[in-house]
Amino acid sequence: MNRPTYERPAIVRHQMGLMNKFGRMDTVKPLTHVDGVAIDALVAEHGSPLFVFSQRTLINRYRELRDAFTRRLPRVRLAWSYKTNYLEAVCRTFHREGAWAEVVSPFEFQKAVRSGVSPDRIHFNGPFKPDLALAEAITGGAILHIDNFDEIGRIDRVAEQVGKWARVALRVNLAIDGLTAWSRFGVNLESGQAREAIARIVASDRLELLGLHTHIGTFILDANAHGMAARKLARFANEIRAEHGIKLSFLDLGGGFASPNTLKGTYLLGEQASPSFARYADAIADGLGELDYPTKELPTLVLETGRALVDDAGYLVSTVHATKRLPGGERALVMDAGVNLLFTSFWYDHAVVPAQETRGAPEPTVLYGPLCMNIDVLRESAKLPPLAAGERVVFRNVGAYNVTQWMQFIATRPAVVMIGTDGRVARIRRAEDVGDLTSHEGVPEWLS
Ligand SMILES: Cc1ncc(COP(=O)(O)O)c(C=O)c1O
Repeated sequence: MNRPTYERPAIVRHQMGLMNKFGRMDTVKPLTHVDGVAIDALVAEHGSPLFVFSQRTLINRYRELRDAFTRRLPRVRLAWSYKTNYLEAVCRTFHREGAWAEVVSPFEFQKAVRSGVSPDRIHFNGPFKPDLALAEAITGGAILHIDNFDEIGRIDRVAEQVGKWARVALRVNLAIDGLTAWSRFGVNLESGQAREAIARIVASDRLELLGLHTHIGTFILDANAHGMAARKLARFANEIRAEHGIKLSFLDLGGGFASPNTLKGTYLLGEQASPSFARYADAIADGLGELDYPTKELPTLVLETGRALVDDAGYLVSTVHATKRLPGGERALVMDAGVNLLFTSFWYDHAVVPAQETRGAPEPTVLYGPLCMNIDVLRESAKLPPLAAGERVVFRNVGAYNVTQWMQFIATRPAVVMIGTDGRVARIRRAEDVGDLTSHEGVPEWLS
């Protein structure tokens, strides 16, 4: 007979702040299925912890973003930001929808090519592009986003060696009221550095200037910040046209749109605070209104949106390994997934809900991971009903930056599955085993 697990009664202090001004509170409604597929069945087949991706959500978000911008602007290109999630099935889903690739390292460049992207549909960002990678990119016709003056000289030289023109854009950093500038990437606009860089590029016989790029930061909750960046790029493009007679073919505003996640320490839930794609589109289109170009020749707007496209398509299923009462009375759970898998739990309060029907009143619960480290805390306080060992929870909005930044610390990484638009389930990354790791190692002959 299945007897309910005994839960020792606890007196829990009532807390203010369950509701915010919209009357919403963190929900504890269980999530038993993803896109109609039972989570129990997924775990039975692929184990726990388990990352699950909804292809339907990926496609819906992509189309929502594209449509919000094409409503306002004639030419828009989405370049999938590989660092956000470079699982091949995820990348291919976006490429099938028409996305180009945005990569920031030779590794990512190769990954994009393996995912079937033609090099001339790759925007190559990043501060570190060794000569070999440059040669491959220039030969294939990729667009190199120049980060610094040394790189201009290097691209010039490598282009000469491979006997081809290099297609380039200049990455600029700029000041936006209320934002800390990401001034380490690109050259600065306000100081005049960017103007000098353009003059140097234009003087070269080997560089074809196609565009300007900026990435003002990430998870930016104020759409007007992107509007201001668009305005500044537009004015700079006007200047380049007036001074050098060059009409740019694109302006790239990078990434930075917020996802439905909730940043730690914020008052509103992410789904309430994060602007819609339409709001960002309006602000950016208004900023680009400054472009002094013939309508038919307006540059393409390139977006490298990462987290806002993929976060809510990703789920992490995790099983309760043990339950505890802490000395202060709080309930705590030891989970089989920790910060090794959910890197983003360092800055988000990820929504977490039970994966099965539950009984009992929710109370603040600390979620610990399995690592023998004090920092391994997935949520400092999540409202959850009583959960027993063997029961599961689902972390939501985990699609961005986790399956790229996860780490192999004292544990191997679990499987990842995708639920296709037709409900089929495919394993898109198998669980690692210890052999995957030891196969990279060698033992000196004197120790074997
Ligand atoms: C150059 C560049 N483009 C795009 C992105 C994606 O940003 P986000 O995930 O904030 O949309 C990043 C992330 O840092 C980036 O550095």
